[in-house]
Amino acid sequence: MDWTSKNVLVTGGCSFIGSHLVEGLVDRGATVRVADDLSSGIRENLEGALQSGRVELEVTDLLDPRTAARAVSDMNVVFHLAATHGGRGYIDTHQAACSSNLALDGIMIREAQRAGVEQFTFASSGCVYPTSMQHDPKKEVFLTEDLVKPPYEADDMYGWAKLMAELSLKAYHREMGLKCASVRYFTAYGERCPANHAVIAMIGRAFLQQDPFVVWGTGEQIRNWTYVSDIVEGTIRAAETIEDGTAINLGTMERTSVLQAAKMILERCNHNVKIQPDTSKPTGPYNRVADNALGKELMGWEPRVSFSDGLDRTIRWYFDSHDRDDVAVDFEASLTERGLEKAGLR
Ligand SMILES: NC(=O)c1ccc[n+]([C@@H]2O[C@H](COP(=O)([O-])OP(=O)(O)OC[C@H]3O[C@@H](n4cnc5c(N)ncnc54)[C@H](O)[C@@H]3O)[C@@H](O)[C@H]2O)c1
Repeated sequence: MDWTSKNVLVTGGCSFIGSHLVEGLVDRGATVRVADDLSSGIRENLEGALQSGRVELEVTDLLDPRTAARAVSDMNVVFHLAATHGGRGYIDTHQAACSSNLALDGIMIREAQRAGVEQFTFASSGCVYPTSMQHDPKKEVFLTEDLVKPPYEADDMYGWAKLMAELSLKAYHREMGLKCASVRYFTAYGERCPANHAVIAMIGRAFLQQDPFVVWGTGEQIRNWTYVSDIVEGTIRAAETIEDGTAINLGTMERTSVLQAAKMILERCNHNVKIQPDTSKPTGPYNRVADNALGKELMGWEPRVSFSDGLDRTIRWYFDSHDRDDVAVDFEASLTERGLEKAGLR
């Protein structure tokens, strides 16, 4: 795709992943409109991209259909990332709030189709997979895209909403010809990721020198943490190659337990203390790892950054950009809240 001739809308572009995606699109020469209500996204995330002169930011609530219609007008390509979302600590404890994604996704898809956009790419999630397949951390399970099928069994309200949007897009393609793709992100991490995601929470604990060092759950939970530059590359490739609503996993196949990740973080931060599991906290499924063969087959995508390298970069960013007193003020709230809620403004 020749991005230099494209007007591109990124909803939720002030978020962790959204802001990296905007930068990736600017690098490719696109002109970008960001629509974000700043409910969890922050303007500072876009600072660099705004300086390019090719990015406009509209602070707006896309749950209003008229606003959504204005956001998609004159756009060639849409990346829909706006969502009520946070890490596990947030989505487990805010199911009613996450249900608003059903409305938001429906509105965005409908308005994009009405406006005649050329391509619509949706930020979906590993939460669309059947949770019953993800209980046993000792099993080597790699989730292939075709496992999402009737009878569906998504993860919490957040996962069901992502699944409904994927299915809506397939229907829009079938019945109205909308060209579209869904990308299923698996536990993304990297610079600008907030503390309601496990890796950042653990880096934050090490930064605050917490002792004992608490991890949520038994620590046996397996994840495939996926670095943000790989997520961005896969998202852009999906827009370039997928037209029929096919959903593609964007995740590494590196199986890492929370305990292993905690040890890697403690070692890198020279913080040699006892790890203390807290099984009263939300954990999500105990074994969630993607199979990523389809992304390679259909779009030539595969992750390039190992967990070890991505962790080094993320720790460096965190330590360079945070202040201990500031982090300490609302650290516990930041594990389960998002943006304005964390700040007590919603
Ligand atoms: N971070 C992950 O590991 C992960 C995993 C799977 C899927 N995702 C999806 O990726 C996307 C980006 O997630 P993220 O982790 O970067 O940050 P995020 O979840 O904070 O991003 C959501 C963005 O949408 C904005 N937003 C929310 N409601 C809005 C509304 N009504 N109108 C306008 N803007 C609104 C927020 O301010 C924020 O900038 C989300 O759709 C999320 O569900 C993320």
